[in-house]
Amino acid sequence: MTVRVPAKVNLQLSVGPLRDDGYHDLVNVFHAVSLADEVTATPAARLTVTVEAAPGSAVAVGGVPLDADNLAVRAALLVAEHLGVEPEAALRIRKAIPVAGGMAGGSADAAAALVACARLWDDREDPLLGRDDLLELGAVLGSDVPFALLGGTAVGLGRGERLTPALTRGTFHWVFATAGGGLSTPVVYAECDRLREANGEQAEPPGLPEVSEELMTALATGDAKGLGAALTNDLQAAALELRPSLRRTLTAGRDLGALGSLVSGSGPTCAFLTESAEHAADLAAALAGADTVREALPAHGPVPGAVII
Ligand code: C5P
Repeated sequence: MTVRVPAKVNLQLSVGPLRDDGYHDLVNVFHAVSLADEVTATPAARLTVTVEAAPGSAVAVGGVPLDADNLAVRAALLVAEHLGVEPEAALRIRKAIPVAGGMAGGSADAAAALVACARLWDDREDPLLGRDDLLELGAVLGSDVPFALLGGTAVGLGRGERLTPALTRGTFHWVFATAGGGLSTPVVYAECDRLREANGEQAEPPGLPEVSEELMTALATGDAKGLGAALTNDLQAAALELRPSLRRTLTAGRDLGALGSLVSGSGPTCAFLTESAEHAADLAAALAGADTVREALPAHGPVPGAVII
């Protein structure tokens, strides 16, 4: 059972107040793009996991845990528990999504493992764990996992797990510039809090953010220029503080004519919106020469969420 699952970029990531549970309330507009991982689950005597770069991909997989910290392993254990079966499967993860890159690669693998194991261990026509159950289990595993199941473009509220599909028209063309080494999501959120405190925002904590009308209109009309102008990410300042060299990457992309640029999620991958597939190919080729860029990968979105292949 093999499941393909997309990476995401956040088109709007507005970070509200820190909640009592340690999460922040968000407006998180997710957009699934054509960089994808594949997770294969095959019957085995016990639960194991292997991780490798997908064919043709230069993703550095060294940072991916191979124990119970691996989100795909946790997903498999959760499915086994809910089905009342032993977690007997070998998981093979083939990665094209940057590791700890701000594109929800770990969450994508968890989503794919949920679907693969649910089908491997329960092949009834009316399976015990339906789509809504998997979305719920996904939210237990991480804030970005439900979106990896859903795909497309969606507005995430709460900690990002309460999803509503967004209306979009056409296809948008992107370039993703990866950096050497990852950034830890909790560290970036903590840096965002620290910067806000240092800037005196603590006396008056940020209110609940709102969905950008400008962004929704650009998506619904397929207006790439409008979308480029509407991209925002409240975590960007924190990511740039932790990794100042990303400024050079963003400047390089803008100088090459990107319609919009931003740090993807908690970084360090930077996203550039382009005019067309050709523009994306050209921009990727030119960006690949920048000294702060490890790889420059063209991709398009929106694409579907986790699918069995
Ligand atoms: O949900 P997930 O495990 O992916 O989140 C990783 C970390 O990111 C959390 O532990 C938290 O520090 C931070 N986070 C947050 N607010 C959110 C989502 C994530 O502070 N809405």
